[in-house]
Amino acid sequence: MTKISPVRGMSDILPEDINTWQFIESTWQKIAKRYGFQEIRMPLLEDINLFKRSIGDVTDIVQKEMFVLKDRDGNELALRPEGTASCVRACLTNNLFNLNSQQKLWYQGPMFRYERPQKGRYRQFHQIGVESFGIESYEAELEHIITLHKFWEELGIRDKVVLQINSIGQKHSRLNYITALQHYFNSYLDALTPEEVERLGRNPLRLLDSKNPKLQEIIKSAPSLIDYIDDESKDDLNNLLRNLDQLGINYFVNNRIVRGLDYYNKTVYEWVTTELGAQGAVAAGGRFDSLINQLGGMDSYASGFAIGIERVFLLMQNSNLNKSKQLHAYLITVGDDASLKRIAIGERIRQLCPKINLEVNLSTGSVKSRFKKADQSGATVALIIGEDELKDDKITIKFLRNHFEQMLVPINELNSYLIKNQVLEAK
Ligand code: HAM
Repeated sequence: MTKISPVRGMSDILPEDINTWQFIESTWQKIAKRYGFQEIRMPLLEDINLFKRSIGDVTDIVQKEMFVLKDRDGNELALRPEGTASCVRACLTNNLFNLNSQQKLWYQGPMFRYERPQKGRYRQFHQIGVESFGIESYEAELEHIITLHKFWEELGIRDKVVLQINSIGQKHSRLNYITALQHYFNSYLDALTPEEVERLGRNPLRLLDSKNPKLQEIIKSAPSLIDYIDDESKDDLNNLLRNLDQLGINYFVNNRIVRGLDYYNKTVYEWVTTELGAQGAVAAGGRFDSLINQLGGMDSYASGFAIGIERVFLLMQNSNLNKSKQLHAYLITVGDDASLKRIAIGERIRQLCPKINLEVNLSTGSVKSRFKKADQSGATVALIIGEDELKDDKITIKFLRNHFEQMLVPINELNSYLIKNQVLEAK
């Protein structure tokens, strides 16, 4: 029978990688707790209009990247391409803003975009996202950038990512800029591809982050967004930058960052790496004050970001920062009497050593093959119980990763031996 392949651009996360994934996720969870962000979980499927109204009808995501399906009643649904719109919708659905207009939330999970898959770009990928609602001050972005900075630091990849910041201004100032930009590019229509000409009419800001070398030359002399944006947006950006200077967080101001989703205003930013080829953005976000109102809520303020977990994972892998399976011990029984009781012996060890990660060998193979399995398990020690140990209520500890002498110890004292030999932590 032929095997069924996975859907293109969607991968399994394998056991050998899961410890690194869990480390990334738990590192974020700890930071979120320290800064008072609360987790929220939203569904993967939403009414398609949610994304049309928020991300924008003319964006690439809505025009060509959504996974769309119809339910049995004919309703058009989309697999979420991002979490921000769903998060705002969830707050409105559940009246969270009525209880407290300031909400600091985070979420994680799979997102879906029908993009051309390549390294670092997938059709199902995972984000950790953060949104702060109801905070007018640039301090919302400041706090987000600080938490991201801590996150890179704790993962060990701080020197792999660079913060690039820009302001795209308030809507009214951006419209003036768009007019100037269209005027400028109209003199270069011959140099644009048909798709770029179409983009000039539909979403001209996106021409600025084009990867087309010919266009990049033209862009060099294009009007600069910073000359058009309103004073309030400029003040917010400058205040943010001043604070980052004081905190020693490095950044570049990059006037070409415009973001691919329509809901942004004022400050926007991306953390980029040079290690992943074209897929350089590892996290990105900014302010999106009008979205709550646009989705049927009150006038408010909003700011947030999302991290691409696959890209973080790849950066950690490049730096050999992968986390291995954290098994402390692997239990081997020798002889029928001990082997008949191996599950019960394992339970007793777990009771005596509350911190232990222990795998019990459940095979029927030779003793030699059991030791081979112990070695492959990645455990620090093998714990062995044969007929003699069973009779004397003792256990043999064999160190698998160094040349320490094998020890025979009373099973009741196993925990203190493992702590003394740094197999287990004391606390
Ligand atoms: P985004 O820039 O579209 O923003 O995505 C955020 C991050 O998700 C990217 O920087 C990248 O690391 C990752 N990412 C995006 N697409 C893919 C893909 N196809 N494969 C792998 N990783 C990908 C947003 O989604 C906004 N919702 C962020 C935000 C939150 N803004 C305000 N609040």
